[in-house]
This record gives sequence, C-alpha cells and structure tokens, in this order.
Amino acid sequence: MLSSMRVIVFASQKGGSGKTTLSGHIAVEAERQGAGPVALIDTDPQGSLAKWWNVRKDPAPAFIQSVFSNLFHDLDSARDEGFRLVVVDTPPAVTRAISEVVSFADLVVAPTRPSPHDLRAVGPTVDIAEARGKQLIFVVNAATPRARITSEAAIALSQHGTVAPVTVHHRVDFAASMIDGRTVMEIDPFCQSAQEVSQLWKYLYERLQRADGAYRAQEDPMAAMANPHNRVFGRRAV
Ligand SMILES: Nc1ncnc2c1ncn2[C@@H]1O[C@H](COP(=O)(O)OP(=O)(O)O)[C@@H](O)[C@H]1O
Ligand SMILES: [Mg+2]
Repeated sequence: MLSSMRVIVFASQKGGSGKTTLSGHIAVEAERQGAGPVALIDTDPQGSLAKWWNVRKDPAPAFIQSVFSNLFHDLDSARDEGFRLVVVDTPPAVTRAISEVVSFADLVVAPTRPSPHDLRAVGPTVDIAEARGKQLIFVVNAATPRARITSEAAIALSQHGTVAPVTVHHRVDFAASMIDGRTVMEIDPFCQSAQEVSQLWKYLYERLQRADGAYRAQEDPMAAMANPHNRVFGRRAV
C-alpha cells in the first residue's frame, strides 16, 4: 500500500502512441489489483478518455473533470476525497501546460510505438521529465510480435531513460474493448493483452513503491541513514 496519493502522467509528443489507451487500461487494472480508489483525469481537449469513460458502465475508476489551470486544486481535492491513485492523460504536444502537468507526477509514462517516427519524437518528452526532475518510463506499445524493430526500439529508448520490461503488443482487442467503455481485462481477463496490462501495472506499481520507500526514508532520519542512496545523493530516489 502506498503511503499517500500518487499521480501517474501519460505523456508523449506523438499522437497515436497509446497514451489514452494505456491511461484507461492502467487505471482499471490498478483498481482491479486493489490500488484504488483510482481516478482518471483527461487534459486532452479532444477528450477521448472522457468519451470512453462516459460510455462505461462501471463507475470505477472515477473520472475527475479538470482543466490544466485547475489541476493543482483538483488533485488536492482528490487527495482529500481519499483517492490513492490518479492517472492523467495528456494531449500529444509539448507545451508549457504539459510541463506543468508533469510537475505533479510521481511517474511519467511515455508509450512509444516501435517506429522511427515515434523514436525520433521522444526528445522533448525526455527534456520535460528531466527539467521537472521526474522519473520517466518508456513503454513500447503496439509492437508486432517477433519483429526485430521491437527490440531495436527498446535499445534505442534505453539510451534516453528507463524502458518498462513489458512490451504491449498490437492487438485489435485494445481498440475493440474501448468501444463500449471497457478494457481488454473486462472482455477476457486471461487474454494475452490483459496479461500484458497486468504485468505493466505490476511494474509501474513497483516503481511507485520504490519512490515511496525513498520518500518515507527521507522523512525518517534513521531510515535515511540506512538507505545508501539517500546518504549519497540526499534526494528523493526512484
Ligand atoms: N497496443 C495496441 N494495439 C492495437 N491498437 C492500439 C494499441 N494501442 C493503441 N492502439 C490504437 O491506436 C490508436 C491511438 O491510440 P491512443 O491511445 O488514442 O493514442 P494517443 O492517446 O497517444 O494519441 C487508437 O485507435 C488505439 O485503439
Ligand atoms: Mg490520446
């Protein structure tokens, strides 16, 4: 269990990389795995995530109506209301507003398709995460099974930061499941797509827990002494 509410921001300059798809899937999976209550925030004016949520029958994860300028207050209210995790979807752009959203993140997740165009577009997202001192995780998304470019993409991305050890493959059920407001896990919890989402959530949760441990160690001087990372760098580590 995490000590306080955590925020995951899905960001990448490239449209179509999977931010909205994975925001919805990770929020639902987190709720299913007991990390809730979870809330979703859609900061993309296109509102794809909001539209998906509107046709969803299950009220969990919750949806918080927000705009860039109100995000700080809306996250504060979410904390007061007892949410444990907020997943924020962002538009495909690199703007000051997105940089501000990232400033609220405990974890920034950048879905990236294994294509030269997507790989070339990661720079600005890396810059924003670095400027804000945030942990960035790349997720190779919509990969073709057994294609060499998938591993090449993971290697290329690893030059820029951490790559999730889980690849999400291209499968029509990701799109199909979202038509009526669901996710692949809610169509078939045992399908391969559902397994990948589940593994991805486990990995992201572990990253959040690590950040949480370091965070608590900082508040407790004895624990901080016991953590060599804090002793050397004196900062919050992930
Ligand atoms: N792993 C995947 N397999 C198949 N289709 C995917 C996958 N991830 C995303 N898509 C599809 O790709 C399109 C773009 O995804 P989306 O999540 O909207 O990207 P973004 O929010 O980054 O613009 C959508 O039609 C979505 O259904
Ligand atoms: Mg989107």
